[in-house]
Amino acid sequence: MKAALFLISLFVLSIMLFQSDKVNRQELSNYNTQDSELALLMREMHEQAKLLKLLLVNGEDIDQYEADVDFILEAEPTRPSVQGDEFESFARYFLKTNKEIYQNPGIDNYNIMVESCVACHKEFCPGPVRTIQKLRIKVPS
Ligand code: HEC
Repeated sequence: MKAALFLISLFVLSIMLFQSDKVNRQELSNYNTQDSELALLMREMHEQAKLLKLLLVNGEDIDQYEADVDFILEAEPTRPSVQGDEFESFARYFLKTNKEIYQNPGIDNYNIMVESCVACHKEFCPGPVRTIQKLRIKVPS
């Protein structure tokens, strides 16, 4: 009986957490109605990459901050034409490189992650490509 009660409260709690997550997102998107969920996530990812670069260049640990990158698979884009199998495979590849940089921090893995941003952008959103390329960490050859 106790275990059942515990499970039920866990269930209710997780629904509450899920709901508040949704509300936060709505608040975020209401902040400026022109910004899509995907655009907002992208800005967060861009900030995350800038921070990673700073930490890596200074030889510091990078486990301090991680954006909710998985949301890339669900976030509503400005243009519906973006959605589809091709976007999804670029997104999944990015998630893989993003995971890798947190599991095996290092400049090489970081640059691979940046290239996965660039790859998707060349296909779906060429505007910010040059800005994203500036995230690369130059390695002396
Ligand atoms: C799977 C494809 C994909 C990946 C991976 C991706 N992007 Fe994007 N990005 C997009 C699309 C599509 C948009 C346009 C979003 C919209 O307007 O809804 C965008 C928008 C942006 C924007 C402009 C946001 C704004 O203010 O409107 C920036 C900056 C950006 N991405 C940076 C990045 C960075 C940095 C990474 C990697 C850490 C990255 N992106 C990875 C597809 C991608």
